[in-house]
Amino acid sequence: MLLHLDVHGDARGWFKQNWQRSLTREFGFTPVQQNVSFNQAVGTTRGFHAEPWDKLVSVATGRALGAWVDLRPGPGFGRLATAELEPGTAVLVPRGVANAFQTLEPDTAYTYLVSEEYAPDVAARSAYVNLADPTLAVPWPVPLQDAVLSAADRSHPFLADVTPVAPRRILVLGAGGQLGRALMDLDDERLLGLDRAAADLTDPDWERNVPWPEGVDWRDVSHVINAAAFTGVDAAETSDGERAAWAANASAVTRLTAVCAERGIRLVHVSTDYVLDGTAETATEDAPVAPLNAYGASKAAGEAAVLAHPDGLVVRTSWVYGQGRNFVATMARLAASPDIGDVEVVADQVGRITAASELAAGLMHLIDAGASGLYHLQGEGEAMSWHGIAKEVFAACGADPARVRPVSTDQWAAAHPGTAARPARSVLGMSRLLATGFTPRDHVLALREALAAAPAGGAPARPHGVGQRLPAGAAADAAERARP
Ligand SMILES: NC(=O)c1ccc[n+]([C@@H]2O[C@H](COP(=O)([O-])OP(=O)(O)OC[C@H]3O[C@@H](n4cnc5c(N)ncnc54)[C@H](OP(=O)(O)O)[C@@H]3O)[C@@H](O)[C@H]2O)c1
Repeated sequence: MLLHLDVHGDARGWFKQNWQRSLTREFGFTPVQQNVSFNQAVGTTRGFHAEPWDKLVSVATGRALGAWVDLRPGPGFGRLATAELEPGTAVLVPRGVANAFQTLEPDTAYTYLVSEEYAPDVAARSAYVNLADPTLAVPWPVPLQDAVLSAADRSHPFLADVTPVAPRRILVLGAGGQLGRALMDLDDERLLGLDRAAADLTDPDWERNVPWPEGVDWRDVSHVINAAAFTGVDAAETSDGERAAWAANASAVTRLTAVCAERGIRLVHVSTDYVLDGTAETATEDAPVAPLNAYGASKAAGEAAVLAHPDGLVVRTSWVYGQGRNFVATMARLAASPDIGDVEVVADQVGRITAASELAAGLMHLIDAGASGLYHLQGEGEAMSWHGIAKEVFAACGADPARVRPVSTDQWAAAHPGTAARPARSVLGMSRLLATGFTPRDHVLALREALAAAPAGGAPARPHGVGQRLPAGAAADAAERARP
C-alpha cells in the first residue's frame, strides 16, 4: 500500500511524520523496531527479502526505486510492483511480500519500521528472490552488473524455486468443542487448532508448552480465537462448578488477554447471551450486563477482560448447535427413541438458535474485516421457544411433534432442583454485525437444512449446560436432557 506523507518544507529543510499509533488500527500494522540503512552510491541495490513481519518503508534523504514481489501463496504469487520512494512516500509491505530497492541519489537514507523484533533465526524464517530474476524483469535504472550489491543478494534463488511464505496463523483454542470443530472444518490454512489436551487454559504454563507444528511459534500468530469455555450452565451452580467456570471463563481469559497483548496478537473471544438478563425485547450490544446465573457471571468477567484491551473482539452468541453435545442433537436422539415417550421442554424461554458453522464463518468475517469491540451474532429471524425448536427437530426426524410437551420455566425448576436461572428472552440485536456485511441465515430454515442433511442429529448430544451432571436411567435421562 502506497502512502503519501505530508512533507512540510521551509528554509531549514523539511519535516514529516512517518507513522503514528492512531494509524495502527486502520492499517493493521504495529511497529516495534525501527531500522535505517545508509546507501552511499547511486545504484546501491538491496533485497528481495521477505522477512516474517510487516514493514513500513520510506526514505529520510535521497530517492530510491522500490520493488516488491508477492511471495504469498495464491494467484498473486510472483506479482511485481514498483514505486519511487522519496521522503513524501511510504509503502506498507505485508509479511510474505519481498522488498527490494535501488538508490537513485547518493547518500540515500532508507528507513523502515517493522512489526517484529529482530531475532537470530530471521534468515531461516525469511524468503528471498534473486534481484535479476528474468520472469520478474525489474526495470532497475542501474543495470545490476554496475550496481553495488552484497554477495548474498547476488545468490538468492529465482522465483521458480521459491517456496511461498505461509500466512500468519489464527490459533483456535478449544478446538475440540462445537465452535472449535466448526472453525477447523472451514479448511482455512491460517487456522491452527489446539484442543484442551494440547492447551488447557487453566494451566498457567500452557502458553509455554504449545505443541507447535514445525517452523511455527507465537511470532507467527496474528489472532487467537478463544472457543474454549466451561459451558456447564447448571454445573456452574455447584460450588465446584462455579470455581471451574470462573477458572476457565474469567481467570484464564484474563491471562489470555495479557498473553495476546504482550505479543501483539489480536484476541477474538466468544461470549454468551447469558451475560444478559433477558428482559429486553431485542438486546443490543449496549444492553446492561446482568447475568442471572454463575456461568453467565463468569462469562461476563471474561468478556470484560477482553474488552478492556482496545484490540479485543468479543462476539456474543446463543443456543449453539454443531458437532458435539447440544440441544438439537439431544432432541434428535429422543425423537428416534419412541420408547422414551413424551419429552418435556421449556416453552417460555424464547430466542434464536445458532449453527456453529455460521458462528465460525462470522468470526472469520469479523477477523478479515479487522473488527474489534463487542458484536452480537446469532441466527436471524423470528424468535422461537425451546419447545418450538424441539418440535421442529421431532418433525424433521419423522417423529410426532406432539410428543414434545410444553412446560414452564417454573415447572421445570420445581421438578429439577439446582437448575440455573436463564434469560426468558435471548434475542440479540445484530446491527453492528450487519453493518460489516455479514447477515446470518434464518435460524429455523438453517436448522431444517441441517436436520435434512443429518436427520438423526448426526452429532452426539449434550444440551448446552447440563452435560456434566446427567442422572442415570432412561426416563430421568430423557427429562434432564430435554432441558436446554
Ligand atoms: N453452546 C451454546 O449453546 C453456547 C451459547 C452461547 C455461547 N456459547 C459460547 O460459545 C463458545 C463455544 O461454545 P461451544 O458450544 O463450542 O462449547 P463446547 O462444545 O462445550 O466446547 C468448549 C470446548 O472448550 C474446552 N474447554 C473447557 N475448558 C477448557 C480449558 N480449561 N482449556 C481449554 N479448553 C477447555 C472443552 O473441552 P472439554 O470438552 O474437554 O471440556 C470443549 O472442547 C463458548 O465460549 C461458549 O461459552 C455457547
